[in-house]
Amino acid sequence: MYNPTAHITLKALETKVFGKENGLRTPFEQRLIALFSDIYSRFEQLYGQHPSFEPALELLLQKMLAAYKARPKHLLESDAHREANPGWFCNQETTAMMLYVDRFNNDLKGLLEKMDYFEELGVNMLHLMPLFDSPKVKNDGGYAVSNYRQVNARFGTNDDLVEVAKKLKQSNKLLMLDFVVNHTSDEHEWAVKAKAGDRFYQNFYHTFRDRTISLLYEQAMPEVFPESAPGNFTFNKEMNCWVMTVFNEYQWDLNYSNPYVFVEMLDNVLFQANMGVDIFRMDAVAFVWKQMGTSCQNLPQAHIVHQLFKLCSQVVAPGVAFLAEAIVSPEEIVKYFGTSNVWSNEHDMAYNATLMALLWNSLATRNTRVMKASLRDKPKKPKGTTWVNYVRCHDDIGMGFEDRHIAESEYDPAAHRKFLTRFFTGDFEGSFAKGLPFMYNPKTDDARISGSMASLAGLEQALQEGNELGVKRAIARINLLHGIILSYGGIPVIYSGDEIAMLNDYSFLEDESKKDDNRWVHRPIMDWALAEKRKKPDTPQAQVFRTLQHMIALRKSIDEFGDHNNFRLIETSNEHVFAFERSWKGKSTVVIANFKDDDQYVYSHLVFPQTMVNPFGMKDRLSGNQLLIEEGMLHFEPYQLYWLTNG
Ligand code: GLC
Ligand code: GLC
Repeated sequence: MYNPTAHITLKALETKVFGKENGLRTPFEQRLIALFSDIYSRFEQLYGQHPSFEPALELLLQKMLAAYKARPKHLLESDAHREANPGWFCNQETTAMMLYVDRFNNDLKGLLEKMDYFEELGVNMLHLMPLFDSPKVKNDGGYAVSNYRQVNARFGTNDDLVEVAKKLKQSNKLLMLDFVVNHTSDEHEWAVKAKAGDRFYQNFYHTFRDRTISLLYEQAMPEVFPESAPGNFTFNKEMNCWVMTVFNEYQWDLNYSNPYVFVEMLDNVLFQANMGVDIFRMDAVAFVWKQMGTSCQNLPQAHIVHQLFKLCSQVVAPGVAFLAEAIVSPEEIVKYFGTSNVWSNEHDMAYNATLMALLWNSLATRNTRVMKASLRDKPKKPKGTTWVNYVRCHDDIGMGFEDRHIAESEYDPAAHRKFLTRFFTGDFEGSFAKGLPFMYNPKTDDARISGSMASLAGLEQALQEGNELGVKRAIARINLLHGIILSYGGIPVIYSGDEIAMLNDYSFLEDESKKDDNRWVHRPIMDWALAEKRKKPDTPQAQVFRTLQHMIALRKSIDEFGDHNNFRLIETSNEHVFAFERSWKGKSTVVIANFKDDDQYVYSHLVFPQTMVNPFGMKDRLSGNQLLIEEGMLHFEPYQLYWLTNG
């Protein structure tokens, strides 16, 4: 198991003993020696029985060395710096924004023109949605990659991307890009060769002549896109084969039981790393290993594949971090941090999909019972890992928390899940949300939700109705959710457009290539005219943007908001009020929020015991106000959020 601290110690000892830094070997060789047993044992476990085990292993090492040699000097320096600071991303200083480069400001050059906007908001990490080449129409928003080494001309050139990476580094910002690891486009060179009859490349995918084999797989596999891409296989006439296509029919699942697939995909990761990527968002990680008779998700071998990606990258480019996009149950998500509870040996970060879903659930129920039940029971994660916390992203919302936590909250799980779908699609009396049902599956009677943050939080409906109080409440909901992801622990990711409360965009319905995928309703083109309204104080734009800006700046100054696995749930004895404490090295902040649209009260001594004797014993960092405790109670307005200290 790799322990970065042990590695640093070893390096230091080597200097001491041999008197000269790196006197013996290059950093690459040192790391390879340190990690080789871990790499070898995993590679052997997956591929030991494969006829090409040995040549593939040799090719792997050759490619790693070549990538190291090609790594630009400034990236080697940043590697060295980060190696000396393990867990460098677990601080409270980073706030990210995710965006589609073309929808944000045309292309990569346009992105650079907007650096001031990020500075103004306080954003210092960018997640740029898929940029590498993909077909014009059948591209799933870029998640069907046809060339991992060529930036799509729509966004600019490879040089433009390298330039963006450099500019970001110069201004102390991080760059995150997707790595679409599970599948390629059917127009990728490998798929094209496979279609032309090349057996070597047919083995890069799961291809079966015999329909019965694919049907046997189907028996245990759920469907990701049941409405637009039912089933998990697509017949390909040219090969006369059934190809596994878990997502869309043009996204061919890679066959990771073939060692060459791993070697080539790692080589692609390293190529992109050398362009200046700081963090890879590994897409759809749960799906990479397939085995007949299973759901083909979260299999133990999938974890080994990801550990190999991490270990091999650590040898070449140890400054690069990995984020798991595993939108699965809470117990399964934490496994993507690896199996060691001492230090991560798989992904460094994972999407906190559970928290995201719990937040929306709490707004719908106007209480925090399910959220508390789930977080009371939340699995532990290893040191040196962190969450990516978010409220909205480019994908749909799935209510991926556990049925048992719903049941503990005295709701019937099936009925509750139906209620949530109805609530967020505006089909429930008193609902403020305007979302769309995504991928209704009649077999399971299940749907997910699409919709922008502002529309789901009630702004669209309130504006339509000219309901001033409704607008106020919607803004308060948005600020509340942003305030939680900024303080929970982990890297908060703001979804571009949410900072100015952009509403649903229904224009996708008129676009042939988008109309069957309503996730486009929440992928609007950035409205820069609307963004100007952030300068007018009484607009929703100003009230969302300024609050976010303030909270991002404040967060940076609160050391205990760094992720030291220092989250403690507080029982407030009020089901509408959610509270947790973040404490670190003697300092502590309590984050406490009312999820109900009326006034609430909480016994203040449950939050800070000293308020029993000192009625001014709390300060809200957000407003800067000292809070008066009346009759032992702390008061909350609808959707009020405090960041409290006992000062
Ligand atoms: C991920 C992406 C999603 C895409 C899918 C297939 O879940 O976030 O947008 O459709 O993978 O690549
Ligand atoms: C992702 C997730 C699924 C999500 C989909 C994209 O990989 O597993 O929950 O909805 O792909 O929409």
